[in-house]
This record gives sequence, C-alpha cells and structure tokens, in this order.
Amino acid sequence: MFPGLRLASVLLLSLALLASAGVIKRSTSPVTLPLTKHYNLTGASKILELDQARAKALVERAKSGARQSQLAGSYNVPLVSQAVYYSTTVGIGNPPRNFSLLIDTGSSNTWVGAQLNRLFLPSLSTLLKFTGDLVYLLYGSGLFIGLEYTDTVYLNGLRIKNQGFGGALLTYGFGGTSGGPDGILGIGPVDLTCGTLFPHKSKCVPTVTDNAFKQKLIGAHEVGISFAPTTSVGDTNGELTFGGTDLSKINGTLTYVPITTTSPASAYVGINQTVSYGDEVILANSAGITDTGTTLILLATGAFNQYQNLTGAVMDQQTGLLRVTPEQFSKLSSLFFTIGETQFELIPNAQAWPRQLNSVIGGSSDYVYLIVGDIGPVIGGGLIGGGSISFINGMSFLERFYHVYDAGNNLAGFAPTNYTYALIN
Ligand SMILES: *[C@@H]1O[C@H](CO)[C@@H](O)[C@H](O)[C@H]1NC(C)=O
Ligand SMILES: *[C@@H]1O[C@H](CO)[C@@H](O)[C@H](O)[C@H]1NC(C)=O
Ligand SMILES: *[C@@H]1O[C@H](CO)[C@@H](O)[C@H](O)[C@H]1NC(C)=O
Ligand SMILES: *[C@@H]1O[C@H](CO)[C@@H](O)[C@H](O)[C@H]1NC(C)=O
Ligand SMILES: *[C@@H]1O[C@H](CO)[C@@H](O)[C@H](O)[C@H]1NC(C)=O
Ligand SMILES: *[C@@H]1O[C@H](CO)[C@@H](O)[C@H](O)[C@H]1NC(C)=O
Repeated sequence: MFPGLRLASVLLLSLALLASAGVIKRSTSPVTLPLTKHYNLTGASKILELDQARAKALVERAKSGARQSQLAGSYNVPLVSQAVYYSTTVGIGNPPRNFSLLIDTGSSNTWVGAQLNRLFLPSLSTLLKFTGDLVYLLYGSGLFIGLEYTDTVYLNGLRIKNQGFGGALLTYGFGGTSGGPDGILGIGPVDLTCGTLFPHKSKCVPTVTDNAFKQKLIGAHEVGISFAPTTSVGDTNGELTFGGTDLSKINGTLTYVPITTTSPASAYVGINQTVSYGDEVILANSAGITDTGTTLILLATGAFNQYQNLTGAVMDQQTGLLRVTPEQFSKLSSLFFTIGETQFELIPNAQAWPRQLNSVIGGSSDYVYLIVGDIGPVIGGGLIGGGSISFINGMSFLERFYHVYDAGNNLAGFAPTNYTYALIN
C-alpha cells in the first residue's frame, strides 16, 4: 500500500537488528500451542497401575533428591503413564526439526529421541552445541540416557535460544516402536532438573518457560494448561499457553494458591486441598500435586475407601477401576475440591471414564467406570506431615478445570471452564 513506508520500516528493523544483534522483538504476549491427546488402550487397561507407579516414583524422587531416588526405584512400569497423554510439536535446531513431545508438569528436563529405533541424530547445528554433559533420568524400569545439548527450541511462535535438552543415546519404556511420543517437554519446577547432568552434577537446566521468560519472549513466568474431556477418540482440543492464561478457555475466575510448603509435594506443582463427596469430607486439608502425566484422580487410601463406600462402587477386576451400575451412577454426588477459598465441583459425569472408551479398557457397556483411584498402599500418606502425598489431580481433573503453573510467583491457578459442567458420554 505504502511502499515507501514499508521500505522505511524494513530499514528501521534492519537497524534494530544490527543494533541489538539478538532479540529485537520483545513480544510479551502469551504464545499458545495446540495439544494432541493420545490413547494407547490396546487390551486390558493398566491405567491405575501406571498411575500408582508414577505416584510412587514421584514421591521417591522428591524424598531422596534427584539422583539417589532415580536409582532407588524398582518399579515395573515407566514413570510416564502412556495409556493417555497429551503432546505438542516442538521444533529443535537450525533448520528446526519437529518432535512430538509429551507435556509433563511432573518433570522438568526436556529431551527427544524416545524411541530406540529413532536414536537422536542431531543436526550439525545441534551437534556443535553439545554441552559436554551426559543427562540421565531413570524412571524405574524406564530410563533415558542422552547427551545434553543447547540449541534453539521453537514452540509455535516462541524462538527460545540456548535451550538445554537431552538427545537420546538410550531409552527404555517409552513405547518402543509403537509410535509413542518422541520425548518429554518437562514444564515442572526447575529444581527437578538439578542433579540430572554428568559430570556437572550440581548444574540445573532451566526449563523452556524459564528461558522464554529470561529472554523476554513472554511477559509472565508461567504456563497455562487447557485440557478437554474426550468427546471422541482423536480429539486435539488441548492447549498450552506460555506467558499467560488463555481467558477464552475460562468460564469464571482463576483462583491462585501458593505451591504447598509440605514435602514431598512441594517439589512439584503441589497444593493443599480438601476433598468432599457431597457433604462428607473424605480428605481433610492435605498436600498433593497436580500432574499432567497422571491419567486419573488418585486419593490417599483412606479417602479412596470412603469414596468407594459412599458411592457403593465395587472394584472391577478386569479394568482395575471402580465401577457402578447406571442406576447407582444416577445417584452419584459431586466431589468438591477446596483449593484456597474456592470450591471446584467435579460433577458425577466428570467422575466417569468416557463410556465410549469402556471397551478399550476391557470394560463392559453395562457399567460406568470411575476415574477416582487409590494412590497406592505404599504411599497413601494421609494427612499433612505424613511425608507423602495425599492426592494427585491428574488429567481427569485437569480436563474439567483450567490450570496455571506460575513458576515466577510459585503459585498454582485453577478455574472453571466450559467443560466443568459439560455432560459427556
Ligand atoms: C513443524 O511444526 C510447526 C508447528 O506445528 C509447523 O508450522 C511446521 O510446518 C513444521 N515443520 C516441519 C518441517 O514439519
Ligand atoms: C501401548 O501398549 C502396549 C501394551 O501395553 C505397549 O507394548 C506399547 O509399548 C504401548 N505403546 C505406546 C506408544 O505407549
Ligand atoms: C464457552 O461458552 C461460551 C458461552 O456458551 C462461548 O461464548 C465461548 O465461546 C465458549 N468458549 C469456549 C472456549 O468454548
Ligand atoms: C499447607 O498446609 C500445611 C499444613 O497445614 C501448612 O503448614 C501450610 O502453611 C499450608 N499452606 C501452604 C502454602 O503450604
Ligand atoms: C464403609 O462402610 C461400612 C459399612 O457401612 C463401615 O463399617 C466402614 O467403616 C466404612 N469404611 C469406610 C472407610 O468408610
Ligand atoms: C459458565 O458459568 C456460568 C456461571 O457458573 C454457568 O451458568 C454457565 O453455564 C457456564 N457456561 C458454560 C458454557 O459452561
């Protein structure tokens, strides 16, 4: 339209480029990435088993510090539950190569090359940025050993320079050749990365959120997470927002609470929470975590038993989940999660495993299976101070409430969404 004007701005831009020789665009608006939901529900389900093993690994790791605990585990399943997971596309290097990475708030290292038959072969640009460190993460019987690089990482519009990440030499337990994720985008607290490098054992690896903020690519040191319940297999309606919250995904107000000071939940995106079934408190104010890598909602054994009692559910041997009859289901009460001063209502519909997926977990259409599980006999910590975690608000919770991890202010945020009261079959 105005060629002269455009030429002038191009010149100005070039001057700015020369002058700053680096970040020229200080865009501080949030950057949003679409998430894809994946299922691997072939055969009988092991969802609860995977979730419990992850819970155990999370507790062990936090309790004994990064390295020792990673070595201490003896679990028969990987830390990352692969029954259901959310992934996003991440570009690495120059020119960027795309990877589909699992979104994990329960870990903070980012790495690629998950599959043994796709050993990570770095581009020349990346190869030159080998840091000299090995990175190793042992997830029970799952493991990752790789070389640590720093290179440019692309998250949709974000171009993060000098991002540390691992490139696999050897991995085990991440789906092998059957098309699992290419690796993990760890967006939890940065402290979880400390002690994962060798020989620089005391080093930590700033997360993508940390670096994007430090490089002034985003205006807030936080990430917003929008998951959505399954309406049909193959949904891709999740979203990750770096540097802010996507208000269009929220219906109501965001409640922020400080990350809990109670260990071991304090090592993660941990919060204090009270859980009631109807009017009955089943879990008194306790510390636990929110976690994108856990499928179900896990409660300490005492609370879980009470939930089972109050719902009249029976343990289904086939699926490992609680089940109720349609008649019992119609009489279910809401679960109320009190976080800070706010009550978040998980309606009965949200307590049910998606009916259309009953068969893939080995269930029958005669029953309704529930997404509340026992956190496990070993770590069912109970009340605050027990040295354990009392709950994990996994994907089944996060699909009904927007979630923010504000690493800068050490806060967790939650808000109702259009899905909070949605009725899904
Ligand atoms: C990588 O992914 C981005 C964002 O999803 C897309 O725009 C781009 O075309 C992809 N690049 C390649 C080489 O596939
Ligand atoms: C899917 O599940 C099967 C059986 O449990 C397992 O062998 C395979 O590795 C899993 N695939 C992925 C991508 O997780
Ligand atoms: C939420 O619902 C409102 C009102 O029905 C609608 O205007 C809005 O677009 C919906 N938002 C999303 C993200 O679906
Ligand atoms: C969480 O609960 C514990 C135990 O009651 C308490 O010490 C702590 O102050 C609470 N709040 C936070 C943010 O940890
Ligand atoms: C479950 O109900 C039975 C019978 O009503 C009762 O004896 C038992 O204590 C209850 N257990 C829990 C954990 O609430
Ligand atoms: C948004 O929240 C209001 C107030 O809680 C509620 O009445 C309305 O149904 C909600 N909209 C959607 C689409 O869930």
